[in-house]
Amino acid sequence: MNPRLYAVEVLLQLLPGAHSPRSLTTLLAKPLSDKLSQAFACELIYGVTRWYQCLTTIIQIHLHKPLRKKDRDIHIILLLGAYQVFFSKQPDYAVVSETSNLSRLRYKPWAVGLVNALLRKLYQQQNQKNAHIAHIAHTQVEYLNPKLAFPNWIKNNIERSYPKQATDFYQTNLTKAPLTLRINHKHISTQAFLVNLLDNGLQARCGELTNTSVTLSESTTPVHTIPGFNQGQFTVQDEGAQLCAQLLQPQPGERVLDACCAPGGKTTHLLEQCAELAELVAVDSSAKRLTQTQENLDRLDLCATLKQAAVEQLDDWWDKTPFDKILVDAPCSGTGVLRRHPDIMWLKKAQDVPALAQKQAKILRSMWQILKPRGKLLYCTCSVLPQENVELIQAFVAEKTDAHVLTVNIPWGITQTVGHQLLPKIGAYDGFYYALIQKN
Ligand SMILES: C[S@@+](CC[C@H](N)C(=O)[O-])C[C@H]1O[C@@H](n2cnc3c(N)ncnc32)[C@H](O)[C@@H]1O
Repeated sequence: MNPRLYAVEVLLQLLPGAHSPRSLTTLLAKPLSDKLSQAFACELIYGVTRWYQCLTTIIQIHLHKPLRKKDRDIHIILLLGAYQVFFSKQPDYAVVSETSNLSRLRYKPWAVGLVNALLRKLYQQQNQKNAHIAHIAHTQVEYLNPKLAFPNWIKNNIERSYPKQATDFYQTNLTKAPLTLRINHKHISTQAFLVNLLDNGLQARCGELTNTSVTLSESTTPVHTIPGFNQGQFTVQDEGAQLCAQLLQPQPGERVLDACCAPGGKTTHLLEQCAELAELVAVDSSAKRLTQTQENLDRLDLCATLKQAAVEQLDDWWDKTPFDKILVDAPCSGTGVLRRHPDIMWLKKAQDVPALAQKQAKILRSMWQILKPRGKLLYCTCSVLPQENVELIQAFVAEKTDAHVLTVNIPWGITQTVGHQLLPKIGAYDGFYYALIQKN
């Protein structure tokens, strides 16, 4: 299939206006057979999803009359074209002819001329030196302001919560996420792993937060080609996510619970960090994701007790033996990982946040019941929204007289009244929140 057409069909099922919008993870589950075509299609899909709002404004300015609802596919073809005009290195003539031809492939030959003319106009304005036209081109650049790319439910929250960091936040989330690995020190040291990478022509650097993390210079490196993959020397995991096991510090003989475990990124890390646990119980509500957890455990030759259940429904899975340590990696808005999942911007809505916070509080209260006295619980999310993080933990410790929030030492990010917030950083970690709570 033509990669541009594939991109249009994916975007039709995701962007605002889709009947029942689906996530990129679901939509990209059936990739094109040719790897280069798939990589090109993904570049377009992720780019248009990130810049959707800005590109729509630019197109609307240039259209004489709005497109009809039933011509949403033509709107998406125009978005795809505009994205290529501003961000791709493809030659102008190829972009104009290949993109306008998509209208024909969507059985709307009447739109070929419209797309062709609009893209030519954008290129012309991009290239013109004439003062008047340059002014218009400048206006376009203004519309490509990172802040304008985000929906209001995110923007309002960020402006209110992190006014000083807001500009960096927008910029970071429009930049590609890095490829970070967690090195399994049971097999190889970080230094030896780095030397192997260099010997194989791969550039990389150590992380800033953990001694297990290595970030590759080239984020598109296929994971299975990295030396040590088959030997289980590493797992793909963001550096912020790697902090969780480090903060919880599982010890020999302890019974540990990974409360929302799938697909097992942190489950495998807890086991790599301490092989002599009494037991690691890992619960998740999704059967499909638990299968992935088992596959990850198998690849790394690790063992955990997996249970499929809504973890807060204790009667469905708990054997009445309390835990020494509990990790609650709660389901959340994902606003700390927007650069990896830009579809979140259009799939989630403002009203989802209070509903998520309610679910998180329910899970947290339930997990507190099954934590031993003096036990520790690490609550974390890949969210940057205070409602899911600091505000939720503040309310929890106000309600529980036996809950005491411990200070965590993290050199970067923002120390909150309770817990610690990382905001995503270009070329480094994702946005994460951590609160380590001890039961008195
Ligand atoms: C942030 S992800 C967990 C990522 C995982 N800890 C890792 O590091 O790979 C949140 C998980 O919570 C699961 N989940 C959502 N609601 C749940 C519930 N009520 N009980 C248990 N798991 C739940 C989702 O299926 C999802 O796998």
